[in-house]
Order: sequence, then structure tokens, then C-alpha cells
Amino acid sequence: MNKTVVIIGASRGIGRQLVNIFAMDSTCSIYAFSRNIEDLQRDVFEYNNVYPFQLDLEDSNRKTTLENALMHLQQVDILINNAGKLVNKPFTELTQEDIRSCYEVNVMGVMETTQVLVPKMLENGGHIVNISSMGGFQGSVKFAGLSAYSTSKAAVASFTELFAEEYKETRIKTNCLCLGAAQTEMLEEAFPGYQAPLSAAEMATYIAGFAQNAHKYINGKIIPVSLSTP
Ligand SMILES: NC(=O)c1ccc[n+]([C@@H]2O[C@H](COP(=O)([O-])OP(=O)(O)OC[C@H]3O[C@@H](n4cnc5c(N)ncnc54)[C@H](OP(=O)(O)O)[C@@H]3O)[C@@H](O)[C@H]2O)c1
Repeated sequence: MNKTVVIIGASRGIGRQLVNIFAMDSTCSIYAFSRNIEDLQRDVFEYNNVYPFQLDLEDSNRKTTLENALMHLQQVDILINNAGKLVNKPFTELTQEDIRSCYEVNVMGVMETTQVLVPKMLENGGHIVNISSMGGFQGSVKFAGLSAYSTSKAAVASFTELFAEEYKETRIKTNCLCLGAAQTEMLEEAFPGYQAPLSAAEMATYIAGFAQNAHKYINGKIIPVSLSTP
């Protein structure tokens, strides 16, 4: 069956790998959003099922941009809210702009994107996968410097539970994956020299499978995806 997949945060890292994975399935149409789309446009010329669109989740017009790009679609089957903004700074040095940008991308971006997609999932159902972090998972090991980022990721997890409750009588299912470390540009910028146990492609393979199958079994769940303990 043909599937329409929307990936937010698709230009690099895990999101880019998600695009590659879904693109290999010719029954999928992939709508790929991020600020930078030049590389996507150049590299996906070999696929005829990937549609890159520019989107800045810090832009107050983000909903209109998404609505315009997806206007012609009646149905979306999978939404992966993958875009993320990480600031690593001691708490007292965080600027208002640091905190605002984390929350714009990681929280408001996720909530408003979901608002745009809900009408396209109501009739035939769909799976929304919100990408959070182990840093936002209750009881996990925490890291100094991540208070803006990790609190915003905790909000994503909480939003997942609240959305699932509000839409429980519909065919829309929502789950949240709290990722552990994967080797991406974000990780390299925030923690130079750290070697993650998983590549971006490996993490994306897990997420792609989860996005396609998990909603048959679970809804409103916050799942740690980590090799570390706790
Ligand atoms: N890598 C890890 O170890 C790790 C661990 C825990 C959680 N995560 C989460 O996993 C997700 C993917 O992370 P990653 O490591 O692959 O990060 P990444 O390499 O930095 O990629 C982030 C993606 O988000 C997009 N993005 C950032 N700001 C945006 C904005 N204002 N508007 C639209 N798109 C924006 C970026 O595209 P543009 O810059 O082109 O806009 C990029 O495609 C994030 O939500 C992150 O918080 C990652």
C-alpha cells in the first residue's frame, strides 16, 4: 500500500538517514523538511519519491509554510518530528535566545507541525513519532550544560502523552522515542571527540521500523532507546 511520510529535520544526521531509508521503498512518498535543502535536492535526484521543502521551525510562519507545502495531500501516514536544536552551556550563561530557540524548535515546532498534520490523519489514521532524548527521560543520567535542551525534550515526551489522551478515540497513534547517543553532526558539535555506540544510519533504521509498525501495538508511550543504564 502506498504511504506518505513527512520527516521534519531531514537535511543531515538521523533525519537524512530516515529519508534515505524510506526513499528506497518505492511505495513511499517522502516530504522532507529542513532549513537547508540544497544537498537533499542534489542527492535525491536518483529517487523520484522524495520532495524536499524549506522550513525554519524558528520562523513564526512555520505553520503556513507547512500547510502550503502539504496542501494537496489528503492523507499522511507517518509524521516523524525529528528536528532538534541543542545548546550546551552552563545554566547561568544561557541567554534568553538560547532558551527560546531550543523551545521554538523542539517544543513549539513539534506541536504546531502536529496541528497541521492532524487533519490529514484523522480519516485513515497515522503514526506520529516524536524524537526526544534520553536527557529528557525521567530518571536517566543527566548532563551539565543541557538544561535548555533536555527540558525541552522532556516537554516533547509530555506532549506525546497528552496528545495521545486527547486523540485516543481516533485512529491517530503517537509515540515518543528518547534517543541515546548516535554519531551525528549535532553530537559532534555538542560533545567533540565523543564516540557514540550507534551511527546515524543505525538509529534511523530502528526509527523507520518503529514508525511503520509500533502504532499497531502501542500509543502514547515514551520509550528510551539507549544502550546505557539507567
Ligand atoms: N544524535 C544524538 O546523539 C541524539 C541523541 C538524543 C536525541 N537526538 C535527537 O534526534 C534528532 C536528530 O538529531 P541529529 O543528531 O540527527 O541532529 P542534527 O544532525 O543536528 O540534525 C538535526 C536536523 O534538524 C533540523 N533542524 C534544526 N533546526 C531546525 C529549524 N530551525 N527548522 C527546521 N529544521 C531544523 C536540521 O536541519 P537544518 O539545519 O537544515 O534546518 C537537521 O536536519 C533531534 O531531535 C535530536 O535532539 C539525537
